[in-house]
Amino acid sequence: MCGIIGYIGDKPVAPLIIDGLKKMEYRGYDSAGIALLTENDFIVHRAQGKIKVLEKLIADEKLSMTIGVGHTRWATHGVPSEENAHPHRDDKNKIVVVQNGIIENFLELKDKLRKLGHEFSSQTDTEVIPHLIAEYFEGDLPSAVRKAIRELKGAFALVVASWEDQRLVAVREGPPMIVGRAENSRDGIGSGTIAASDIAAILEHTRSVYFLDDGEMAVLDEDSIELTDFDGNAIEKEITKITWNPIQAQKDGYQHFMQKEIFQQPESLRDTIIGRFDLEAGEIILDELAPIEKENYSNFNHVLLTACGTAWHACLVGKYLIEKFSDLRVEVDYGSELRYRDPKIDERTLFISISQSGETADTLAANRTAKEKGGTLVSICNVVGSTITRESDAVIYTRCGPEIGVASTKAFTAQLAVLVLLALNIGRVTGKISKDKCREILQELIEIPQLVRRVLKQDADLKEFSKHYRDKQDFLYLGRGINYPIALEGALKLKEISYIHAEGYPAGEMKHGPIALISSEMPIMTLVTQNNVYEKTLSNLMEVKARDGEVIAIADEGDERIGEVADHVFHVPKVSEVLSPILLTIPLQLFAYHVAVHLGCDVDQPRNLAKSVTVE
Ligand code: M6R
Repeated sequence: MCGIIGYIGDKPVAPLIIDGLKKMEYRGYDSAGIALLTENDFIVHRAQGKIKVLEKLIADEKLSMTIGVGHTRWATHGVPSEENAHPHRDDKNKIVVVQNGIIENFLELKDKLRKLGHEFSSQTDTEVIPHLIAEYFEGDLPSAVRKAIRELKGAFALVVASWEDQRLVAVREGPPMIVGRAENSRDGIGSGTIAASDIAAILEHTRSVYFLDDGEMAVLDEDSIELTDFDGNAIEKEITKITWNPIQAQKDGYQHFMQKEIFQQPESLRDTIIGRFDLEAGEIILDELAPIEKENYSNFNHVLLTACGTAWHACLVGKYLIEKFSDLRVEVDYGSELRYRDPKIDERTLFISISQSGETADTLAANRTAKEKGGTLVSICNVVGSTITRESDAVIYTRCGPEIGVASTKAFTAQLAVLVLLALNIGRVTGKISKDKCREILQELIEIPQLVRRVLKQDADLKEFSKHYRDKQDFLYLGRGINYPIALEGALKLKEISYIHAEGYPAGEMKHGPIALISSEMPIMTLVTQNNVYEKTLSNLMEVKARDGEVIAIADEGDERIGEVADHVFHVPKVSEVLSPILLTIPLQLFAYHVAVHLGCDVDQPRNLAKSVTVE
C-alpha cells in the first residue's frame, strides 16, 4: 500500500514528484525516495521516515532533470530503512523501479538471478524487479518490462525507468495505477505525462486520466501515452474526467485531516443522501441498482455483507437494517476471513461489499470469491473508479469526498446513510414496508445533517472532558442491538489514534466474562438510546456501577433516567432507532480525536497504519 509516481516533462520534475508523494503520504510513511534520470545515469535519494526527511535531504541539490520516479513506503518485506527504501535499481545501474504491492515468488526469482551473477542490497521483494528487467533489457524498456512481468507472481503496480531509454513504463496487476497528460499544471511545468497510484497526486496537473486495468501498461513519453496489454497489443481506453477540487484535499485551517473530516459530516451526509429519494412518494431512488433490481430482489434469498475495519462495523449495522426491512437472511463477514473459508454463496446471494478506498486487498479478494460462486456484487464505495467499483455489478457511491485521515470518520457515517437507503429500498421494492413508514424515516434522514451539526457543538465540552482520560490504559465500549457496532467503532477509533487499549462489547455480554475487568481504573463508554433494549442496558450499567466502574453515557436528549446510572452524560438528539448510529458516532469520534491530541499522537498518520490496505 505504498504510493508511487513517475513524471516525464520539459521542466525539473523533482519538486512535482515530492509534491505528489506528499499527497499520497497517507498510503505509507516508513520511507521515501526519488530517482531522476540524466543522460547516462540515475540520481537516487532515499530516506527512512516521512517525505519531509527526503525533502530536507535533497533541498540543497541542484536537480534539473525532467524525468523521474518517486515512492512513499509502507513496509511489507524488510524493515523501514534507507536500504529497503524505493526506488530500487539493478546492480548494473540500468533499470530503476518503484513498486506498490507484493511479489510472492521473489525468493525463487532472487535465487535464479543470484545464479546469473546478480547481487542484491535490500531485503525487499521489489529489488528482484529491476534485476529481472535488466536481464531482458536491450535498449527498449517496454519490451524488457513485458518479458520480466510474465515471471512475476503477486499483485503489483510499477513505474519503471531506464536512463538508456528515457521513457517511463507504468504497469498494473492488482494495485491502482492512473496515468494522464499534464494539461493545466501550476507554474513551473509545461507539458508532460504522469503516472501515480492516486488521483490526489495527479489532480494538480490534469483532470483527464486513464485508469489502468489489471494486465495493462502505459508507456509514457514527454508528450504521449501509449496503452497496451502485457503482450504489447494496443488498447483503446476512455478518458475519465475527475471533478474533485484540489482544495478538498487540504486541511482548510483544521489542525488535522481527521478533525476536518469529522466537521465535514453535515455536508458529506447531505451529499450522500441528496437526490436519492422521493419524499412525497415515500420511495428510494437508487438508479445505480437498476441492473440488479429488475427482478425486485425476488431472485435473492440471502444477503452477505463484507468489509474490513470500520467498514465492517458499517456492515454489522447494515445486517440489522436489512433484517428489519426485509425477509432476507443476512450474514456479515470480514473480507480477510471470508476469502479463506468456504462461504455458501450462489446466484441467489446478494453480496454487499463496503470500502472507503475501493482498494482494500482482503475485501477485493472476498468480492472475487463471491463473484466466482455466482453472487451478485453491489459495492458501497467512496473512491470513484477504484478497483472494487470496477469489479461490481452495481455501485452506490458514498459521495463524501476524499478522506485523507487514516482513521475513517465521514466515510463511515456516509456508509451508514447509504445502508439506510439501501435497506429501505429493499423493503419498499419487496413490499415489506409501507410508503408511510418509508416517508417517516426519510423525513428524519433529511434532518440528520442538521442534527449532526448540533452534536458537533459539543466539541469544546468533549475536548475538555477528554483531558481527564489521556492517562487511562484501558477502555470498554458498550452498546446493544444496532448500537453495538457503534461501540466497536468507538473503541477502534480510540485505539488506532491514541494507542489506548479499548474493547467494544454488547452490554448484555458483560456478565459472561468482561465484568471481571471492571474497576475504577477502566472507564466504560456506553451507548444508551431509548429503544427496545433501553431498560436492559440500564440494568447492565447498574451492574457495572455496583462494581465501582466509571460510566460515561451517550444518550438521547430528554433521557432523565440515565443520569441516575452514569457518572457523565452527553446527549444526542432523539431519532428513530435506525438512524441513531449516525448521531452516536459523532461524540465517539470527537472523544477519540481529543484524547489522541492531548497525548500528542500523530492523529492523521498513526503508527503502523496506512489509509488503504492494498496488501494481505
Ligand atoms: O478503504 P476501506 O474502507 O476498505 O478500509 C477498510 C479498513 O482498512 C479501514 O476502515 C480501517 O479500519 C480504518 N483505519 C479505520 O479507521
